[in-house]
Amino acid sequence: MVKLGVNIDHIATLRQARKEFEPDPIQAACLCVNAGADSIVAHLREDRRHIHDKDIFQLKKKIKTRFNLEMSIADKIVKIACQVKPHQATLVPEKRQELTTEGGLDILKNFHRVKKTVKRLQDKNILVSLFIAADKKQIKRAKETGAEAIEIHTGVYANAKTKQEKTKELKKITAMTQYALTLGLIVNAGHGLKYHDTMPIARIPGINELNIGHSIISRAVFVGLHQAVKEMLALIKK
Ligand code: PXP
Repeated sequence: MVKLGVNIDHIATLRQARKEFEPDPIQAACLCVNAGADSIVAHLREDRRHIHDKDIFQLKKKIKTRFNLEMSIADKIVKIACQVKPHQATLVPEKRQELTTEGGLDILKNFHRVKKTVKRLQDKNILVSLFIAADKKQIKRAKETGAEAIEIHTGVYANAKTKQEKTKELKKITAMTQYALTLGLIVNAGHGLKYHDTMPIARIPGINELNIGHSIISRAVFVGLHQAVKEMLALIKK
């Protein structure tokens, strides 16, 4: 069975829009776990735009499943990760101005820094995954860093505008998954996946876990809005 990791950054984004205490990402994480999520993903960005330091310490303490911390390879963030000791760390590239993680980590360019970071995290018993493009050279170098896992970036597939482009990307992700498996890597995938295009990725033989955030949190608004309005109406009528 392919596992599901739910990214709860968007809950924290909503909280930070008002700089209040709600919605609480920890409560959201517990709900996701109760619903069957195999892991909880949260990204401690260098600018702390959504998830904050206290959130990740709480997540590690409170959630009853795996905590996968998404993070850059910046020294300050690595130090925090080594204190929190999540079950897994997924190393991603990070730019201040971006809306979300754009593209995969370039292992060819950053090989030595990535390798050092992998070792620092593994020394704390943290399983390390590298978020990379579906590219043979990147996968080969990812293996050489010593990381146990990769997460294949599905953004190009998810954003493909034509059926041909989508099919081409799906084939590429499938082939690169098989290649990574032959190297002994655990293969995860994610980014930009929606309800209508997740199944073909979930069907790829050997995929371990899909990490999905935005579409699940977006759907949760509509699944829950009816109930939320009913509850407020009931209070007002009392
Ligand atoms: N995987 C990684 C490495 C990511 O950076 C993100 C976005 O935070 C996701 C998965 C989830 O992407 P989305 O929110 O588009 O589902």
